[in-house]
This record gives sequence, C-alpha cells and structure tokens, in this order.
Amino acid sequence: MLSSNADGYGRLIYDHYRGLPSAEVIERDDGWFGVSAGAPAYFASFDEWPPHERKAMRYARGRVLDIGCGAGRVALHLQARGQEVVAVDLSPLAVKTCLLRGVHDARILPITQVTRRFGEFDTIVMFGNNFGLFGNPHRARWLLRRFHGLTSPKARILAESRDPYQSKHADHRRYHQLNRSRRRLPGQLRIRMRCGRACTPWFDYLLVSPREMGAIVAGTGWRVAKLIRSNGPVYVGVLEKAGDKI
Ligand SMILES: C[S@@+](CC[C@H](N)C(=O)[O-])C[C@H]1O[C@@H](n2cnc3c(N)ncnc32)[C@H](O)[C@@H]1O
Repeated sequence: MLSSNADGYGRLIYDHYRGLPSAEVIERDDGWFGVSAGAPAYFASFDEWPPHERKAMRYARGRVLDIGCGAGRVALHLQARGQEVVAVDLSPLAVKTCLLRGVHDARILPITQVTRRFGEFDTIVMFGNNFGLFGNPHRARWLLRRFHGLTSPKARILAESRDPYQSKHADHRRYHQLNRSRRRLPGQLRIRMRCGRACTPWFDYLLVSPREMGAIVAGTGWRVAKLIRSNGPVYVGVLEKAGDKI
C-alpha cells in the first residue's frame, strides 16, 4: 500500500475535504514544475463539471467502475442517479475521503489490480485525464485487453485525455522532442506529484491526441466509437467493444 509520505493525491484531497489549503505541484523529469488547478475540481458537483464531461455521462450505463476515483465526484453523481458504482484508487486518503463523502463502495486498488472478483461492469470511467494512468502504449493495450474480459458485451470505457500537441508552450514542445529522442510518445510524461510533505513516486502519465488514442486502442477488442471534445485540448473518448479478435 502507498505510504502516507507517498500519498500526494490523497494529501491534496483529504486536506481540501478538511477545509485546509492545498496545492498540487507537478514535477516533470526534465526539471519543469507546474501547479495544477487541483483539489476544487475533484470535488465539483455535476453542474460545475465542464460540458464535455457532463455530456459523456450520458454514455455511462449499468454497473460502473470508476478508476482513479479521487474524491469521488463521478461515483457520487452516478450513485445519485441510482447506478451501482465501484470506485477504486491507489490512494488510501482519497478512498477514505470518498467513503466520508458517501461513496458506498470505494476501495484502495491500483488500476493494474482490478480483476473479475469485483464482478462484471457495463461502464468504466476514467475521468480527470485518467487515460493517463495507462502510463504507456504497451501497458495501455495490456490493460484494455484485461478490461475487455471484465466487462459486459455492450460495455463502454469513458476515457478522458488531453491532446499534448495543442500546447504552444516552448517547454512542452521541447519535452515532446526529448521524448521522441527517447523513443517515447511525445505525451508520455514522467512525473511525480507533491502536496505538502507528501510526494508520489515517479510515474509515467500518458497524454494522447485522439488519433493516438485510436491507434493504441486498435486490436485490443475496443474502438473509439465517439469523441466528445471540449473547447480546449481535453476530450473524452467513448470506447466500445469492437467485435474483433484479441
Ligand atoms: C487527476 S486525479 C482524478 C480524480 C477523479 N477521477 C476526478 O476526475 O475527479 C487522479 C487520481 O488517480 C489516482 N491514481 C494515480 N495512480 C493510480 C493508479 N495506478 N491506480 C489507481 N488510481 C491511481 C490518484 O490517486 C488520483 O486520485
């Protein structure tokens, strides 16, 4: 289990829940630092979500798995709609916050440990750019094939990502070049996240364009059936079962 010193997301989420100030500091392996919008977005109620996420919720049907559930905003919304949700997150403090906020079924579990023992799902939600949790294309394909076996025939994955090429920032452009030279996808970030004294281990976080998402998904038993775009670089890919052999 993630130690409390390594539970950066949990620190951010639990401190915000308790009314304490908290900031999400991202450190990238080229020395770049950034401060993200952070905790309030993870606690937003449905009417405060960006339009593309609200629209994507129309595709969430049946029994739902919410991967990297954070403070539980997706799970709470779907529960209120009467849907059964299993919410999982690597972070013990995030899961504690979910339970305190009323999520019925929240578990400490990394994305790689979801198995059939949790039953069959009709929808998997990966919001908050959580397509990124796949880490790299190889791991994405492995996990997508696993998810195929955990889901019903008409299942969907609602996978949010950010198109890295829409950034004009010179630091990000330089990082894309660095990644190309390392034979990584330009948007395959190596980052760690800090909040207060907590700092996550370094991890790979995969940002993809819609075209890259389509290429990664091909041959895994899934296809990108629909793209729900925002006004900016963030979008949701609605993945459906492709009916092809995997
Ligand atoms: C950017 S937040 C998104 C939270 C939520 N999905 C939302 O949209 O509000 C990412 C979440 O993923 C969790 N996470 C990070 N790595 C993970 C992993 N390997 N498996 C499961 N959850 C993970 C973090 O602890 C954090 O709560």
